[in-house]
Amino acid sequence: MKLSVIGAGYVGLTTAACLAQVGHDVFCSESDVEKLAKLQDGVMPLFEPHLEDVIKSVRKAGRLCFGSTEEAIAWGDAIFICVGTPPLPNGDADLSAIEGVARSIAKGAKGYRLVIEKSTVPVQTGGQLQKHLSVHSKNGLSYDVASNPEFLREGSSVEDFLHPDRIVIGVDSPRAEGVLRKIYEPIINQRFTCPIHLCCPKRKEPVFLATDTNSAELIKHASNSFLAMKISFINMVANLCEVVGADVTKVAQGMGLDPRVGPAFLNPGIGFGGFCFPKDVQAFIRIAEKSGCDFSLLKEVEKINQGRVELFIEKIRKELWVVRGKKIAVWGLAFKPNTDDVRFAPALEIGRMLLAEGAIIRAYDPEAMERAKMVLPEIICCADPYEAAEGADAVLLLTEWTEFRNVEWSRHATQVVRPLIRVGRNALPAQELASHGFEYIGIGGVSASRQMAESPLISI
Ligand code: UGA
Repeated sequence: MKLSVIGAGYVGLTTAACLAQVGHDVFCSESDVEKLAKLQDGVMPLFEPHLEDVIKSVRKAGRLCFGSTEEAIAWGDAIFICVGTPPLPNGDADLSAIEGVARSIAKGAKGYRLVIEKSTVPVQTGGQLQKHLSVHSKNGLSYDVASNPEFLREGSSVEDFLHPDRIVIGVDSPRAEGVLRKIYEPIINQRFTCPIHLCCPKRKEPVFLATDTNSAELIKHASNSFLAMKISFINMVANLCEVVGADVTKVAQGMGLDPRVGPAFLNPGIGFGGFCFPKDVQAFIRIAEKSGCDFSLLKEVEKINQGRVELFIEKIRKELWVVRGKKIAVWGLAFKPNTDDVRFAPALEIGRMLLAEGAIIRAYDPEAMERAKMVLPEIICCADPYEAAEGADAVLLLTEWTEFRNVEWSRHATQVVRPLIRVGRNALPAQELASHGFEYIGIGGVSASRQMAESPLISI
């Protein structure tokens, strides 16, 4: 099928590349001219595992092109809107980019188009899109509007797109449902050449769930808010563990064994970051407020999350006594591993606060240093974790990249001034570190004496 994707951010690029990978002919547009030029030259504007390889191969096969919004609108029978919906100062999602695309479609498209909102939008945006398209269309455009929320995680978005648990669509006509089923057929049946696995691991076929547009829109915000709530919940349990002398990894393990709870998203830490959870929780609170529903539960989720960084800093202050002039190694700057995204990254907030208190920050992140340096130019970027830790009074593990688990602790022990490791994510072998003379302080009562050798690290 001929498909268009408008917006080449994490979601748009992954969507365009993966739809081309499963056999469609895709045109992807980007309004930022510099970024567009990069994409047309084959230069990746962001780091996302497997994405570069997929883009290279589908471009070579002639199934993916990049260009302007107008060209994209003229190309596809179905148009995926993947533009940004950043937060406004009051927490509402800024829908001006979506409105702009709707106007362009209304002005430029002829014949039938299925207009699909993939960007995360507040409930009833589909209705607004319908209205807008009908008010502004001039060229005899006939259209359907559908919602197709994405559940892609940065760092594994290609895998999530190609091997999803569910595909949710919100449609108001059988025609729209038919088009979306056809688009996703190769993924529903898991019949495509997988760019990630030679032999894909056996898993359940994705569930294809068709609802009305409002429900599909709500599924997205409700899912992200629920996951954020799980994180804030375990963060409070972690606080309690520290006070009463329990180990949060054990508590989370025990809770997660109940299938009604599940083990995922029970890793405590310095709070959730990134461009999705913080803004989506805020937007969901605003949606509820505007609809007259008291969803103060979510305000607590947000409040707990906002307190995580300050709590962490407070602990560092206690450990270091005087922060001013101390050399602090920061391992990890991205908001999570396997991405170079630093938007709303708790690690950057911690860096910013420690710098403000006069600390010298020597940082290392496998992918995110360039972006981090743009927002926090005072940090000293280092070539590897060892260089960052040279002469350090404390090492802070703030993003759980696998690379940090493989550090040679004996080598590392000789470099630091004080062998203090404070983790923002429980992702290091506490016992091994203790055997090399490190003071290891985990989150939620995790310590070397508690972490049994056979205890598995919970992965997110
Ligand atoms: C999230 C959702 O997981 C995706 O399903 C959704 O599609 C995406 O938002 C989106 O709306 O576009 P993402 O933001 O990429 O994906 O990252 P997550 O893996 O969900 O992590 C979000 C934050 O929560 C990170 O800062 C992570 O470190 C933190 N987290 C996650 C925890 O603190 N503890 C956990 O147990 C899990």
